[in-house]
Amino acid sequence: MTIHFIGAGPGAPDLITLRGRDLIAASPVCLHAGSLVHPAILSHCPPGARIIDTAPLSLDEIIAECAAATARGQDVARLHSGDLSVWSAMGEQLRRLDALGIPYDVTPGVPSFAAAAAALKRELTLPGLAQSLVLTRTGGRASPMPAGEELARFAATGATLALHLSIHVLDRVVEDLLPFYGPEGPIAVVWRATWPEERIVAGTLSTIRALVAAAPMERTALILVGPALAATDFRESALYDPSYQRRFRGRPELQP
Ligand SMILES: C[S@@+](CC[C@H](N)C(=O)[O-])C[C@H]1O[C@@H](n2cnc3c(N)ncnc32)[C@H](O)[C@@H]1O
Repeated sequence: MTIHFIGAGPGAPDLITLRGRDLIAASPVCLHAGSLVHPAILSHCPPGARIIDTAPLSLDEIIAECAAATARGQDVARLHSGDLSVWSAMGEQLRRLDALGIPYDVTPGVPSFAAAAAALKRELTLPGLAQSLVLTRTGGRASPMPAGEELARFAATGATLALHLSIHVLDRVVEDLLPFYGPEGPIAVVWRATWPEERIVAGTLSTIRALVAAAPMERTALILVGPALAATDFRESALYDPSYQRRFRGRPELQP
């Protein structure tokens, strides 16, 4: 018996992998992380499945559900929004399951930064402008940032930043970023990417606060910052340049 950790994607019910969908359909128990998992995704559960919203549960209670299902000989589909590799609280669950000897596997999902970039119709890495993407957040009282992971340090690289869990401190974010990206630095906020009510607010570091104040967005919003968001004068990549001698022609993914 296995606990299947499954990335349920950013919200739209058709943005789940086929593997994730099939595992849900084959699992008589489904634990899902509250309102960020679309109800339509739960419709993949088999008839009579035990479906539990884990938002009000403690870690002990979640693990007890996994242990009880395992004792009954049942698989569990454990759903978290987006992908599981970032801010999913999967790590602490895996550690408990390891201690109990309960087997699990992990199926990735579409992360919210990718959904937000798609909503903006932007590539976050552009030749000569930005070749790195930093997935980060601002610290809160319950989750302070580790030393060395201050926003200013990442901003100093000039790379594209994807700021999660931070829309409520947009003022502070802008103040921290201004010295590095400048008042004309491009920034966009994508609220509820892929949901029917999705909203995009795009501007510069000098305009974004007023733009967001005019269209308030709470919680489920991603902030993207960096020159790649607005650039049009970036150079083309060598990949599709006919004069470029491609050692692995036809297999561009193998290019150095
Ligand atoms: C607890 S984290 C979960 C991240 C998730 N595991 C992922 O892969 O994106 C929640 C944060 O992710 C971002 N987020 C999640 N879903 C989103 C969406 N549909 N649109 C915009 N931001 C989203 C927001 O910044 C939110 O505060």
